[in-house]
Amino acid sequence: MIGMRLGGIDPSILRELSGVYTPFVKAFKELISNAYDADAETVRVDFTPDFSSVTVTDDGHGMTPFEFRTDFARIGGGSRRWAGDRTRKDRLRIGSKGIGFLALARYCDRLRVDSGAERSFEVQAEIPEGGNSFDLLSFLGVPIPIELLQDRVTCQLRRGNRKLEEDKDYTWNKKHTRLTLDRVTETVNVKVRVDCKGLRFSSQLDFERLLHLADNADLEKLDDFATIEVTKVEGACPTGTTITADRLKQFVRRELKAERRKGFVRNISSRSGLEQFNWQLSRCTPVRYATPAENPNPAVSKLLTLPTQSTLAHLEVTHGETSTSLCRPVYPLASGVAVVPPDMLVKVEIDEGGLKVEGFIAGFESIIFPAEYRGLSIRVRGVSIGDPGFLGADNLLTGVSKAALSQITGEIVVLSGLDAVDTLNPGRESFYEESEQYKILRKHLIGDGEKVRGSLGLAIDAVIRRSSVRSGLADVIGRAALRRRALDDVSAGVSYLIARGDKTAELLRKMVKAKHSHVNGLASAKPIEVPLPPRIGGLSVIQSKDLSEATEIDYVKAQIRVDMSRQEWLWSFVLFDRQFQVILKKGDPDQPIAEADLKESKIYVNWGHPIKMQMDERGFLRTALAWVVAREAAGKEPDHMMDLALRLLSFNMQGDG
Ligand SMILES: Nc1ncnc2c1ncn2[C@@H]1O[C@H](COP(=O)(O)OP(=O)(O)OP(=O)(O)O)[C@@H](O)[C@H]1O
Ligand SMILES: [Mg+2]
Repeated sequence: MIGMRLGGIDPSILRELSGVYTPFVKAFKELISNAYDADAETVRVDFTPDFSSVTVTDDGHGMTPFEFRTDFARIGGGSRRWAGDRTRKDRLRIGSKGIGFLALARYCDRLRVDSGAERSFEVQAEIPEGGNSFDLLSFLGVPIPIELLQDRVTCQLRRGNRKLEEDKDYTWNKKHTRLTLDRVTETVNVKVRVDCKGLRFSSQLDFERLLHLADNADLEKLDDFATIEVTKVEGACPTGTTITADRLKQFVRRELKAERRKGFVRNISSRSGLEQFNWQLSRCTPVRYATPAENPNPAVSKLLTLPTQSTLAHLEVTHGETSTSLCRPVYPLASGVAVVPPDMLVKVEIDEGGLKVEGFIAGFESIIFPAEYRGLSIRVRGVSIGDPGFLGADNLLTGVSKAALSQITGEIVVLSGLDAVDTLNPGRESFYEESEQYKILRKHLIGDGEKVRGSLGLAIDAVIRRSSVRSGLADVIGRAALRRRALDDVSAGVSYLIARGDKTAELLRKMVKAKHSHVNGLASAKPIEVPLPPRIGGLSVIQSKDLSEATEIDYVKAQIRVDMSRQEWLWSFVLFDRQFQVILKKGDPDQPIAEADLKESKIYVNWGHPIKMQMDERGFLRTALAWVVAREAAGKEPDHMMDLALRLLSFNMQGDG
């Protein structure tokens, strides 16, 4: 191998640039992005058993040795940067800055690149005024054996519009590496073309040395950090590129080697190092979406069916015996995930100012685990920009709205826009806040005021609405059940006391047979409607009968149906062998707590009685009924009455007092 001179590198910024790619996986993804840009379909990633090195092999269009020098091993270099945004396969190119090769500089000592391409390399040169020769080898900058170059090169020389002729205007030296011509009075343009059929190269970049030189700003020695060897392949030349990151740093190896944490696996950080690497890589490389055999959320898949997004066909990561084919995970498409109901699924569609975005935001009724699925993931050219988040909305929110964020996930796919050099930070991990298109995106996703609106606002509202409906409804049903328990308690207490056959039993027995009526005020007081609010969490409540569930919630129609034919809503109860109807009345505070109409088998309860303020509904209802039963049965014998009331109140049917 021979040292190769590399142009365009300013050592003082090398370390700075290599530092924008953290952690390791975010640097590593640059190799995958480059393979994608080279129109690869299949990319293989192979770790050695001890994680000391990793090799990426792609089936893309490769590089000629000369492209390698001008495009790869050079910062911000390469004329193709002005040649458009699309690859030969019409993919939107991920890379644009020309610094990707530096990404791994901090994570390994050496990078080896093996590649080749069956095409010609074309480049323009100039022989300036006053010059009289042109040295092809030093111009190409790649040390290549002369015999490999000789028959492959053609040069076309022009001065202004005039084509210069060999032997008349210029001559080649014997080795065909150097042109000589008369002293140039007007610039001569040289078009160099090298046929690279059958050529492959192997190059080694010594990062350790590069960063060391960079630290010392030792410009003179910079050309020593890369070596290259160009060889000729007989027969069919293999296509594609193989890049090996060799001698991975100890801390990288340690991370990759880390074992799964024992016990309950709550989120990605408890998985093994390699599993974490694969997970992260699947989110920041252009791979297709993972869809389970049994898709719980076809509506979500539909929103992610984006024909314009090209992806790699295969990205395979191998380590020893284990091999994983990476797909991009999306929470609602993971197996076993709850169905996202229509009111919790917000479709995102933006077409403004050159920005085209599609995707979804989904809310869930419980907190999303694992945690790394929470938040909106923004995908530009198939690659996530940073980790999922809320574009700063989390800082604007407090209380329940903020809490709701942990129940929200989303996939925001940028179809065009937001990919300009001045929109994305180097490393493509975040957006420049001042980018106009980023502002448009933010406005649509989270609004542009102090309050969070936009699609995220809708999702938050949906999550909050569901949780307030759930808790509101649980409260209403719970209270109905408690009231029912009060009736059952009194009913059981009376049966129990009658069974004892004593004096109290006799009084009670007499009472349930009685047909007199003692009511004077409560009967005519205003009745209380069934204690059911007209709306819960903004949904209207409708009384229903014979439903299959106690309640049915329809968030789309904004309705809750409550099955009022169920036990907990019935107000009749039995005293020994006689059925009574309990009727709630809005009585005055100084009216009795309850009155019984033994003729009509009705018991009126004064819902406006001050004692009600002191206890819950179950306690109050029980008190009122015990009091009225005791009064009707033993009103003329105060001792018995007190005793009976207390016994009924303390009677313990279910062991909970
Ligand atoms: N696997 C590959 N196959 C073919 N060409 C490649 C490959 N990897 C790199 N290259 C060439 O090297 C060039 C430099 O890659 P590099 O990642 O440094 O910059 P970039 O991809 O152009 O921009 P960015 O810094 O934004 O990633 C690429 O533009 C491409 O021409
Ligand atoms: Mg790149």
